[in-house]
Amino acid sequence: MQTKKLLSPLVTDTLTLNNRVVMAPMSRRRAVNGVPGPSTQLYFAQRASAGLIITDNTAVAPNGIGYLQVPGIYNEEQKAAWKKVADAVHAKGGKIFMQLVHAGRIGHPLNNEGNAPIVAPSAVQADGVIRIPGDVHVPLPVPEALSTAGAKAMVEAHIQAAISAIEAGFDGVEIHGAHGFLPEQFLNPHTNRRTDEYGGSIENRSRFLLEIMEGVVAAIGKERTGVRLSPFAYINDLPAYDEEAATYTYIIDALQKLDILYIHLSALVTNGRSSISDAFLQDVRNRFSNLLILAGGHTAASAEALLQNNLVDLVAFGKPFIANPDLVERFRHNAELAVPNADTFYQGGDTGYIDYPAVYQFN
Ligand SMILES: Cc1cc2nc3c(=O)[nH]c(=O)nc-3n(C[C@H](O)[C@H](O)[C@H](O)COP(=O)(O)O)c2cc1C
Repeated sequence: MQTKKLLSPLVTDTLTLNNRVVMAPMSRRRAVNGVPGPSTQLYFAQRASAGLIITDNTAVAPNGIGYLQVPGIYNEEQKAAWKKVADAVHAKGGKIFMQLVHAGRIGHPLNNEGNAPIVAPSAVQADGVIRIPGDVHVPLPVPEALSTAGAKAMVEAHIQAAISAIEAGFDGVEIHGAHGFLPEQFLNPHTNRRTDEYGGSIENRSRFLLEIMEGVVAAIGKERTGVRLSPFAYINDLPAYDEEAATYTYIIDALQKLDILYIHLSALVTNGRSSISDAFLQDVRNRFSNLLILAGGHTAASAEALLQNNLVDLVAFGKPFIANPDLVERFRHNAELAVPNADTFYQGGDTGYIDYPAVYQFN
């Protein structure tokens, strides 16, 4: 199998990646009290041969944690623990960005620190259930609508979290603008029924995400700033809407002006069909001149084809990295891939986390 470009380095003015294989952000929910432990250091160090690692989604505020045992980056204890993770990856020659999330209405007060109420652009409940302490699943509650000042405070929380991630030694951050969490709840008119500057027009619905991006760029530098988007994926009970394509065009043009390091598109593949069409991907490529990452159902062969056709610069792999810590080396040797156990994706302690063996060693 041809993996020449996939395994070739990517060099920008400020960043050198050993290859174009990205470890996609994956919530593994093993952070007791929001603090990543020694197993998380080992988990990422085992996977440090990826050109770039993107961490689990990591909460920017105590009221935005979402799922039980998601890590945070809003206090000093979390920051110190993350520093050990970044150091462990760097010691193995890897690069690591932190994915920053505020889960908005996809959460529960009992999962939030201090039982903080869940917040969202508007008081629109999501259809679905969420696991809470005691291992029970309960309906997602009706969120409280953020005030204008409250929305600005959440923008600030993202910016502060980005500063903390850099102080903890991360190479950069990825703002989670995808999968129906708070920034996408602002984009979608179903969840955003606001009449202030954050609601209504495309410009207003995009304001929350773009203020985060502008603030993060100002705080840590455009060359350390990326974003994840999932247009047309409708994850976490978001419906399609009329101005969706125009909304993303507006955002991508704004991100081009901000000159951020990368846009990471998360595609949902259902029945072999991707939520990111070839035409949409090409349009993003034409509008945005920095790095483009695509994730969702890729193999080494499909990734190589995307790279050879110059449609993207990097390809992210999720599930393959769970069971194949040495995924890059397996690609290099055209070796068989182990299949992950979905029962331990989100729970199980060290089982299904740090016990998948590597076949190939690196440094
Ligand atoms: C266990 C698990 C946890 C995930 N958690 C996140 C997350 O925290 N943030 C995110 O943006 N995507 C998350 N995803 C989506 C992945 O980043 C990726 O887009 C998806 O798995 C598709 O890629 P794949 O087919 O290579 O697995 C998660 C996926 C899995 C399987």
